[in-house]
Amino acid sequence: MTGFDKDWLALREPADRRARDTRLLQTAADLIERQADPHILDIGCGTGSTYRAFEKKLGATIRWSLFDHDETLLAEAEQRHGSQGITFIRGDLNDLSVLPVDGVSLVTASALFDLCSPAFIDRFVRRLKEAGAGLYAALNYDGVIAWTVSHPLDEVVTTAFNEHQKTDKGFGVSAGPDAWTLLSNDLQAQGYQVTTAPSPWLMDVPDAALQHLFLQGVVEAVADRGTIAKSELQAWHQFRLHAIGGAGSLCRVGHQDVLAFL
Ligand SMILES: C[S@@+](CC[C@H](N)C(=O)[O-])C[C@H]1O[C@@H](n2cnc3c(N)ncnc32)[C@H](O)[C@@H]1O
Repeated sequence: MTGFDKDWLALREPADRRARDTRLLQTAADLIERQADPHILDIGCGTGSTYRAFEKKLGATIRWSLFDHDETLLAEAEQRHGSQGITFIRGDLNDLSVLPVDGVSLVTASALFDLCSPAFIDRFVRRLKEAGAGLYAALNYDGVIAWTVSHPLDEVVTTAFNEHQKTDKGFGVSAGPDAWTLLSNDLQAQGYQVTTAPSPWLMDVPDAALQHLFLQGVVEAVADRGTIAKSELQAWHQFRLHAIGGAGSLCRVGHQDVLAFL
């Protein structure tokens, strides 16, 4: 899933909100509130979901900058929050020299680092340390998908999907499900105190629309790998679509949140 349209982001935001580890989110907010003149930079901000997740936990005096390379998403964020004294910045994270991180207390991100390559993560952590900023990176996909109603192909489908997660998503060959571990290890190596916590999506009947789109993305990614016969993949897809909304039918998609402070 490399195209991030605002409808997809809007659809996933309630599941993301429920999934975020509340303790890590609150700890990040508490640490920020204690700093003099705090400034938060949200990278890969999309339409501003991380800003919204923090909004009620932080005082109105906190300065925010929202950074993304996508003009449309940034415009949507500005339309929703433009009156709240936020700075909106368009830029490409691949060029870390333009990332306005100096003087920032906390960099935030969500659903971003699993798109990034190990080399980018390494460069990013060095830049973060140079600036002396903390990091709250939520909702990094961790490679674990489970359904309460099982199908014999679940494991091979998940394996193929995870392989696809490790293709280029705009930052070189992506770390995919390994990103959160690499990120945590790099941060620790740079002297950060790191806390991680699981933040899985738990999709039930009310999340049927999200489940449909998620399955569509999985099937497209797996078809792209070409490791499962088309007819088998179609049968799996039909089984999964049919199971949505069935009694006791839950889908769990694993994510991990990472919080790091110096
Ligand atoms: C999965 S979306 C997450 C958006 C938002 N953080 C959220 O949780 O709803 C990933 C975001 O990263 C942005 N992004 C991807 N590659 C980028 C790059 N090279 N530079 C800046 N932003 C990038 C996308 O435009 C998108 O907004």
